[in-house]
Amino acid sequence: MEFIPVNEPLLNGNEKKYLCECIDTGWISSEGPFVQEFERKMSAKVGRKYGIAVSNGTAALEIAAQALGIGQGDEVIMPTFTIISCAMAITKLGAVPVFVDSDLNTWNMNADEVEARITSKTKAIMIVHLYGLPAEVDTILAVARKYNLKVIEDAAEMIGQTYNGKACGSFGDISAFSFYPNKHVTTGEGGMLFTDSEELAERCRTLRNLCFRKDIRYVHDEISDNYRFTNLQAAVGLAQLERLDEFVIRKRKMGKYYTERLKNVEGLTLPLECTDYADNIYWVFGLVLNRDVCIDNKRVQELLTKEGIGTRTFFWCMHEQPVYRNKGWVTNETYPNAEYLARKGFYIPSGLALTEKQMEIVADKVIKMMQVIR
Ligand SMILES: Cc1ncc(COP(=O)(O)O)c(C=O)c1O
Repeated sequence: MEFIPVNEPLLNGNEKKYLCECIDTGWISSEGPFVQEFERKMSAKVGRKYGIAVSNGTAALEIAAQALGIGQGDEVIMPTFTIISCAMAITKLGAVPVFVDSDLNTWNMNADEVEARITSKTKAIMIVHLYGLPAEVDTILAVARKYNLKVIEDAAEMIGQTYNGKACGSFGDISAFSFYPNKHVTTGEGGMLFTDSEELAERCRTLRNLCFRKDIRYVHDEISDNYRFTNLQAAVGLAQLERLDEFVIRKRKMGKYYTERLKNVEGLTLPLECTDYADNIYWVFGLVLNRDVCIDNKRVQELLTKEGIGTRTFFWCMHEQPVYRNKGWVTNETYPNAEYLARKGFYIPSGLALTEKQMEIVADKVIKMMQVIR
């Protein structure tokens, strides 16, 4: 039986050609010319003045938080239902993540609950767009403006997506992308920061590279890390970016196919095809078991693995993370919608290399599983 992995990237454009160019010219480090070209082309695509390539999306969030001056005791509002990169970027700086429950329609942070979480210590809001539909940017930006808060936009999963016609990644004081292989543009590992502020861009570049002092090399006034991005990664990224529009079409075709096949399956909630501000881009095709379905997403994963289908459970909430509970940073907070998504949500194979035949097999197996368990 063929195993259908949850994700496989598509690397059959100019990736090999540009990689060979790196090897032929000897430019493989972060100093190579593809890095700046990728930064330029990516920021043009997102409509931002500056793009700063870094080693991964997590690093991008860490640098964004540090560049915006978030520090000890500051509070940053974010969804509890997200990847831990968001919370870790904040807690690493001694700041405190303040969580918001999810909207069950879009699976993003409930924008209407953000304002109530503001205190005198709030310094920033982190907008995170999840699974294929953007969060409600306008509502959140209005709150940020009202209270003079910084905005970090985590658009890791939203490369090629728009909110009301404007690119995701264009809304934060600093915004971040990830280029992990399940993203719409991959570089293996990688990430990028975007901003329109020359000062913030320069700060991000410094933080990316060990905070070398400008005047004397190997002298440092601050603690940072090596978050550099290589010419090899940029070579792959440039080839991927050439095909982004085609990739978005491909993803939407996949979403349409799965929706048609699964929309009448009892017990399953499908992702929204659109909202009034965006059409779903299907970073991955997520499914949520209805409350009356007696099993959880981990059991689904076991059942589908046996059938040769790769899946992933949804994110585990930040307020339920042992690392934060053990430190006593969260105690008895509950966020019912997020907890429900974390226990009942999963995604099925959705990579760009997925064939129509594989999609058909996946849909058949999901339908069969739902019949068996009900
Ligand atoms: C919303 C979100 N933010 C941040 C990240 C972290 O990106 P990376 O894996 O490149 O560190 C991811 C990764 O999947 C993500 O989905």
